[in-house]
Amino acid sequence: MLNWLKQKLTGGRPTAAAVPLQQIRQSFEQAAADEEHFPSTIDPRIFHVQLIQRHFGDINNKFTLDAGSGKGRFARVLLDQNPQAKIVTLDLALAMLHHVQAPLKPVCGTLTQYPFPDHTFDFVYATESLEHAVDINAAITELTRVLKPGGKLVIIDKNAEHWGRFKTPAWEQWFHRDQLTSLLKQHCQTVESDFISYWEDVPPDGLFIAWRATK
Ligand SMILES: C[S@@+](CC[C@H](N)C(=O)[O-])C[C@H]1O[C@@H](n2cnc3c(N)ncnc32)[C@H](O)[C@@H]1O
Repeated sequence: MLNWLKQKLTGGRPTAAAVPLQQIRQSFEQAAADEEHFPSTIDPRIFHVQLIQRHFGDINNKFTLDAGSGKGRFARVLLDQNPQAKIVTLDLALAMLHHVQAPLKPVCGTLTQYPFPDHTFDFVYATESLEHAVDINAAITELTRVLKPGGKLVIIDKNAEHWGRFKTPAWEQWFHRDQLTSLLKQHCQTVESDFISYWEDVPPDGLFIAWRATK
């Protein structure tokens, strides 16, 4: 009954339960051992990677933040393509960051309060991590605060219309396309979004949305 009422009040969007950050951290500290569901590598041909590369272009000698990086699989591919890139991988779980090697720079922290000054990064991306941030307004404010004016941002996450497709922890949220677009527009000059699939030649089934923004 309570869940039904919550869904009605939020227009059908899932609402995150008030789970302490420490509990979320513990869950991901343990999850790091699960290489099948939290892999440390990614095929560079996967469209999620391609989309980030295309939106950012050349990131050599520029500062990039992988926000909620997990084991740094996206960062490793970007570094392979841009050997002079300066990439910081931030994650809540130390066990995830143990997979991140120099010259990538692992930082333990939370998506809702970064230890970085305003306008630190030329590029920022968050792949399937915003869904765990609980306070989404605070996370979007942080993602854009640390981005330089003119800097570029990519968020790839799951579509709230597909909520229920997988078992999810109590704190997880998925997003409507317009929901993140309007939040991002409060901080960015341009915001575009697309439904994407893992492979460019496979039509998207609607599960993943990519938001591309320029501050
Ligand atoms: C589904 S994994 C995605 C990891 C990575 N972006 C990828 O695509 O491989 C979600 C990651 O977000 C991290 N995470 C969850 N809540 C976070 C928070 N509040 N601040 C920073 N990282 C967080 C988890 O530790 C986990 O590594």
